[in-house]
Amino acid sequence: MTERGRDAAEPAELETDLELAAIVAVAENGVIGRDGEMPWHLPEDLQHFKETTMDHPVVMGRVTYEGILEALGEPLPGRTTIVMTSRELETPESAVVAGSLEEALRTAETAADERHDGVDTAFVAGGATVYEQLLPAVDRLIVTEVHDEPQGDAYLPDWDREAWTEVARDERDGFAFVEYVRGG
Ligand SMILES: NC(=O)c1ccc[n+]([C@@H]2O[C@H](COP(=O)([O-])OP(=O)(O)OC[C@H]3O[C@@H](n4cnc5c(N)ncnc54)[C@H](OP(=O)(O)O)[C@@H]3O)[C@@H](O)[C@H]2O)c1
Repeated sequence: MTERGRDAAEPAELETDLELAAIVAVAENGVIGRDGEMPWHLPEDLQHFKETTMDHPVVMGRVTYEGILEALGEPLPGRTTIVMTSRELETPESAVVAGSLEEALRTAETAADERHDGVDTAFVAGGATVYEQLLPAVDRLIVTEVHDEPQGDAYLPDWDREAWTEVARDERDGFAFVEYVRGG
């Protein structure tokens, strides 16, 4: 991520009253994906993702959405998935298509109000293109730091660690659950 944050001039399309939290699992070499999937098998991380995002809007790119459909046969249960795409996609009721960042955030606001009992956080769940575009507007980073350097073809964009403060770290076997908030 660059130094540009919420304090700097932020494009109007990225403004929202919701807290935006990015959730990502990333290896030491920045890899987050390979061939449309995650290049590791970490059931504890999948459980952590589920518990963290449950009952919230979750914004993701079309490639990530299709990977979830392939794995689960349906969008993420218990959440509203906001799928960013320029295509006309048929989706089940729990998934809504958004053709721009602004539409994604407005749709997340509506979902937070109407479907999730007024929750005030939406999650940004990747992939690389969506992190790239939305990290400048993110308030909180929920990162699974995977202690490995796998081959991959999708990367988390660089983010300026100086602009973030680590507020929690839970070391596990081969990875850590870490949380950062914006600011020093
Ligand atoms: N490790 C993790 O935590 C994690 C999390 C999520 C994903 N991943 C991995 O990341 C990889 C996928 O990432 P990716 O970057 O290839 O794909 P992606 O970000 O999931 O999806 C890219 C697609 O999103 C749509 N899109 C993005 N920005 C848009 C915008 N502003 N307006 C309209 N549509 C927009 C476009 O869809 P159209 O082409 O349909 O227009 C674009 O092709 C996979 O390997 C996945 O497993 C890893």
